Amino acid sequence: MHVALAAVFTTALVVNCQPVAIPAPGCADGTEVTKVIDIDCGFFHLKDNILYQCGQPSPYCTNLDLSFSGIESFSPGVWTNLSGVEVLNLEGNSISQLEMSAFSDLTALRTLDLEANQIMYLQAGVFDGLESLENLLLQRNNLTGLPDNAFAGMYSLTKLNLDSNQISVLASAAFAGLPNLHMLLLPFNQISHLDDLIFSGLASLTVLDLEKNLLSQLPVKLFANLTALETLDLEENQLVVLPIGIFAGTPNLQTLDLRDNRLSELEVGVFGGLRRVVYLHLEMNRFGAGLSEGLFEDCFELRKLYMASSNITVMSQWVFRGLYNLEMLELQGNYLSELPEGVFSGLKWLEVLNLEYNNLTHLLEDVFMSLTVLTKLQLNNNRLQTLPATVFSRLESLNKLFLQHNLLDELPAGVFSGLTSLTKLYFGYNQLTSLADDTLDGLASTVQIDAKFNAAPLEQFLVQYMPI
Ligand SMILES: *[C@@H]1O[C@H](CO)[C@@H](O)[C@H](O)[C@H]1NC(C)=O
Ligand SMILES: *[C@@H]1O[C@H](CO)[C@@H](O)[C@H](O)[C@H]1NC(C)=O
Ligand SMILES: *[C@@H]1O[C@H](CO)[C@@H](O)[C@H](O)[C@H]1NC(C)=O
Ligand SMILES: *[C@@H]1O[C@H](CO)[C@@H](O)[C@H](O)[C@H]1NC(C)=O
Ligand SMILES: *[C@@H]1O[C@H](CO)[C@@H](O)[C@H](O)[C@H]1NC(C)=O
Repeated sequence: MHVALAAVFTTALVVNCQPVAIPAPGCADGTEVTKVIDIDCGFFHLKDNILYQCGQPSPYCTNLDLSFSGIESFSPGVWTNLSGVEVLNLEGNSISQLEMSAFSDLTALRTLDLEANQIMYLQAGVFDGLESLENLLLQRNNLTGLPDNAFAGMYSLTKLNLDSNQISVLASAAFAGLPNLHMLLLPFNQISHLDDLIFSGLASLTVLDLEKNLLSQLPVKLFANLTALETLDLEENQLVVLPIGIFAGTPNLQTLDLRDNRLSELEVGVFGGLRRVVYLHLEMNRFGAGLSEGLFEDCFELRKLYMASSNITVMSQWVFRGLYNLEMLELQGNYLSELPEGVFSGLKWLEVLNLEYNNLTHLLEDVFMSLTVLTKLQLNNNRLQTLPATVFSRLESLNKLFLQHNLLDELPAGVFSGLTSLTKLYFGYNQLTSLADDTLDGLASTVQIDAKFNAAPLEQFLVQYMPI
């Protein structure tokens, strides 16, 4: 697009470029110019992939778009007389190096977009003078590390995006001098070590994204000063353990994502202090029998707890103690063969319970007793052979019940009779050969039923029900 515009503006350029203030290669002589970049702000020339300013820029320029222009470096003074510019877009160029104070003429700059360049290193001082900068985009560059004070002095910076670099080494004061930083994005890097004070000055931080790095352990004081933190993403690292008290200084954390790590044991106190956490992702770990009693005791605001596919074999009776506000519990894809008595007893507000793809062979008759607002219960793909007659009797809010793909060969009389809100019932793919007259006692005739692929066809017993 810029090339096309360049062709249109070449004539204008030659005229415009006669009274040039700083003579730059190509400015006075259109024939030397390899590429002309026209923007509303004035004229910039690219010669040998070096950017030159050509002529007096417009004093009204606030948004300078030099994206995808093949720029490799800048000539000295290229940003002269652009002190009104608030947004500088350099995305998609080939810049690999930035000089000291490279942007210090741009005193009004609020957004600096350097996304998708090839920057390999940042010296402390590169961003000197950018005291108004709020948003610094450095994602998809070639950074391998950050030195001390890399961004120091950017008092207004609220968002720093370092996504998808190759950062492995972070100096302990890499993020010093950023008192207003709200969002620090470091996903898709190669960080394996974090110094315990590295985030300690970031008193305004609300979002910290460390997804997809190589972290195997975290120092206990790492998040100690992040009192404003609301979202912490540690997805897809290699964490094996978490130190007790690691979240003691983050009382405002609402979303904690620890999915896809190698966590095997979580001791009481690991989640101590998480009094506001609402979403907790623990799926795709390796807990086995390593979940301690009272683990979530501080998390009384928790609404959604994700623990699928975590190799859970055994759960303590008191593991969910204190989760008074839990609405959704995902435990699918584990190796649970039984559910201890009372394990869900405090979960008075649970609406969705997913236990599919476990190894459950039987259920205790009062295991779901207190789940009176439960609307969805997934028990499919287990090894259930029988059901206690009263196991569902208190589930008066249940809307959908999934029992397909088990080993049920009979259903007790009236087993569904308490399910006054049921709309869909699945018990296909079991070993049933018939249903007794009283099996479906109490079930409303509006319930839709899926009973296909049992040991014998069951349609004759279900004539008054709609199939799903
Ligand atoms: C910058 O602006 C000043 C005053 O408007 C002018 O004298 C000077 O030549 C300009 N410099 C450039 C490089 O355009
Ligand atoms: C930056 O990384 C890309 C992709 O890994 C690579 O193709 C490019 O050569 C690197 N640039 C520099 C200056 O190292
Ligand atoms: C923690 O933050 C407070 C202010 O929010 C600051 O005074 C203190 O120095 C910080 N601690 C560290 C270790 O940086
Ligand atoms: C899952 O648990 C079983 C039994 O405790 C164990 O043998 C297996 O190694 C575990 N798998 C992983 C990936 O940790
Ligand atoms: C699942 O349960 C069966 C029968 O109780 C048992 O033999 C098997 O070892 C269990 N599998 C796992 C992975 O726990």
